[in-house]
Amino acid sequence: TVGGDPYRLPRHVIPVRYDLRLEPDLAAAGFRGQETVTLSVSEPTTSLLLNAADLVIEHASLEGPGTDRMEAVIELEESLERCRLTFPKTVTPGQWRLQLSFLGTLNDKLRGFYRSTYTDASGKVRTLAATQFEATDARRGFPCWDEPDFKAVFSVTLAVDPAMTAVSNGRVESETMEQGKKVVRFADTITMSTYLVAFIVGHIESTAPTFVGKTPVRIWCVPGKQELASFGQDIATASLTFFEEYYGIPYPGDKLDLLAIPDFASGAMENLGAITFRETALLVDRRNGTHGELERVADVVAHENAHMWFGDLVTMSWWNGLWLNEAFATFMEMMAVDAWKPQWKRWDTFCISRAAALSVDGLLSTRPVEYPVRAPKDADAMFDVLTYEKGASVLRMLEQHIGPGVFRSGVRDYLRRHAYGNADTNDLWVALGDAAKHPVPAMMNGWIFQPGYPLVTAELTSETTLTLTQERFAYLPANSPSSSTPAPSWQVPIQLRVRSKGKSQTVKLLMTERNTRLTIAADPESVLVNEGGHGFYRVRYGPMLRGKLLAAGLAGLASTERFNLINDSWATTVAGLTSLADYLELTGGFSEDRDKNVWAILLDSFAFLNRLIEPDQRPAIQAFVRRRVHPALSAVGWTAAPGEDDLIRQLRSELVGAMGRLGNDPVTQTRAAELYEESKRDPAAVDPNLVPALVSILAFTGDDARYDEFADRFRTAKTPQEERRYLFSLTAFRQPDLLRRTLERTLSGQIRLQDAPAIVSAVMGNVYGKELGWEFVKAHWDQMDRQFPKQGLRRMCGGITALATPALEADVRAFFSSRRIDLGGKTLEQYLEQLRITVRFREQHASKLHQLLLAHT
Ligand code: BES
Ligand code: ZN
Repeated sequence: TVGGDPYRLPRHVIPVRYDLRLEPDLAAAGFRGQETVTLSVSEPTTSLLLNAADLVIEHASLEGPGTDRMEAVIELEESLERCRLTFPKTVTPGQWRLQLSFLGTLNDKLRGFYRSTYTDASGKVRTLAATQFEATDARRGFPCWDEPDFKAVFSVTLAVDPAMTAVSNGRVESETMEQGKKVVRFADTITMSTYLVAFIVGHIESTAPTFVGKTPVRIWCVPGKQELASFGQDIATASLTFFEEYYGIPYPGDKLDLLAIPDFASGAMENLGAITFRETALLVDRRNGTHGELERVADVVAHENAHMWFGDLVTMSWWNGLWLNEAFATFMEMMAVDAWKPQWKRWDTFCISRAAALSVDGLLSTRPVEYPVRAPKDADAMFDVLTYEKGASVLRMLEQHIGPGVFRSGVRDYLRRHAYGNADTNDLWVALGDAAKHPVPAMMNGWIFQPGYPLVTAELTSETTLTLTQERFAYLPANSPSSSTPAPSWQVPIQLRVRSKGKSQTVKLLMTERNTRLTIAADPESVLVNEGGHGFYRVRYGPMLRGKLLAAGLAGLASTERFNLINDSWATTVAGLTSLADYLELTGGFSEDRDKNVWAILLDSFAFLNRLIEPDQRPAIQAFVRRRVHPALSAVGWTAAPGEDDLIRQLRSELVGAMGRLGNDPVTQTRAAELYEESKRDPAAVDPNLVPALVSILAFTGDDARYDEFADRFRTAKTPQEERRYLFSLTAFRQPDLLRRTLERTLSGQIRLQDAPAIVSAVMGNVYGKELGWEFVKAHWDQMDRQFPKQGLRRMCGGITALATPALEADVRAFFSSRRIDLGGKTLEQYLEQLRITVRFREQHASKLHQLLLAHT
């Protein structure tokens, strides 16, 4: 084992090839399997250790060169999800063939080899079978060496019902009939990790292929949904072309299938050549989808395609390095979508993701991006905003610092050096450092191996001196600053802009010390730190610079710079470093702003206040929101001009939604109801981007009849997005009895398990549903723990961060500690800290909040 860790397998037996045959029986919810694993043994041994979970291994035997076949004694070690095979004689160094036969169940837990169901056009419930093996569930599909650095070739054969279709990673090599079954043999895969193996079996249909070079690209879905496939197919083709060019390496598979699976735990999964998706992430009506829905499909498809190289061709050695997969795929997703639709300004919208990472990484309970992993639970907990969004943000910061061309050539070298193998963080730094001719590890290690990030304070300390200071940013005061461990610091690539005598000058530096002094032009009109907004740090200006920046006006700032200004100001306000009065004042300066991301951040901060204000003072926040939103909304108006920018359409929808719900504005609510009726009569009469805002307002103001109407539209929806929209609308009503009905649907089978946890979480996030949502969680915890997919359950618990009263906070802590609930990694600790921050804010500001809101006009 590795370092005596019982979750790791020994390294003296290495699989090089799996010949795998599976025969799923969808009706009986089971499967039967046989495999031959070719092993390379480097030290004499009498037993083999491999992974298996929820499988019955019937038979195991080993054959070697010049030896008789040996039968194994099979012992399953359930808690460690592994199996020990013991042989009567020593297995000597050399090549061996291990033969296994086994039985498994097609489970309903959306992991391993599982069942998914859907209702066909005739109303009949149909079943398909699919796999989800990442992180550690290949061992539920077949016995294997289930760690990412045991790379091997997989030869897959599936024996299925002749009326069904079978898809796996490779092309179909042959199809024959044997004993009434269709036997499909797939081509050998490249040498790859177990978590990337996939099988999908069912009545599914594909589009005609499009070709990227010789690679056919197809979209698969259940019958009747093909007309929703063309948008996904376009971005699949475009991003595959983009990546072959960017990476300078041909696509490593022999075909590319993208499959929409009706029940799917996450968004999508990068199985080489057979990428699986949840339906909302692949199938969309390209004419009636909102900008956000189309962007989501483009993002997810580009992300998974990026993994074909980053993740599949080159894989992290172990789960502690998951960021090498996920952060890179997220970074490349932005690059590809930005190249495909520059008018979407994808890197501007990336500000939202960076902000989400800054917010979790501002917790004392954050973790470094690279973080130790032992148990499967801890591997699952790595799929979080730090791995994805912080990782991608620091890559973007590095790319901008060393230059996009240099960065790309470093990436190409890294992929070429480690193709078909594994790598870790230092391998990436070495390749990027070689390309940049510049010591990348010294600069980057702090961002990956250290938790948190700096707050950079900027002030003029003399007429020509700009002083920058860095310290770790945290919302809560660190408990006991120990004198033995020095305060952390970072190598911060700083880009700033000095305006003096009407001219702008950009200054770039790498800040390696805690304090830096710079000589600048005397008496500048303004100084902006983090020009372009690519840095993963926050900025606070001293009074002098803040005064100058505001006097110079927001119009001179790029949208990403305005975003960071408001986002950092809000964060320092929540941290108690700047005053709430100043923040509320600052928000008044954005009436001319037309950037949807800037507005999303502003509106989020208003929603935060709305969550913690005393209910009888709610009219004050509503009036405040109306005052802030009104000027922008009246300027963009309610109707889209023909040919209007998608981003303005999205902004309109944000503003209308906020005015109708947070602002509780009766005029907006009436107008929304009228427009909704109009859209029912003639869908083309209303911009699709506006519909989600209308639906959410009508839920907010709705009664029983509206609830039934929306529940009905959920059941009869024509697209996955429409289904999702009406499903989530059921969490936005205000009447407790209606919200209770929604909660009950999560356990009654009326809502798919893939969505149920998010619905519970959304009810807790509704200010009118938080108590009842929380009571429901407590009352049904055991059932949820049994039924909900594990990552869903973890995300559902994120809903507790909205339970922002001291009494609920105490109750939440008592519940989780009395039940000794562990969500893996630091997940629960982080949720509890986020809750603490909100409740603390409430305690600190409750007495003045009402007055402040009334005063800020
Ligand atoms: N590798 C992940 C899928 C995954 C997530 C497996 C969690 C196991 C646990 C995939 O590449 C991914 O990142 N999917 C994202 C969507 C993406 C666009 C960020 C997801 O599922 O949310
Ligand atoms: Zn990914």
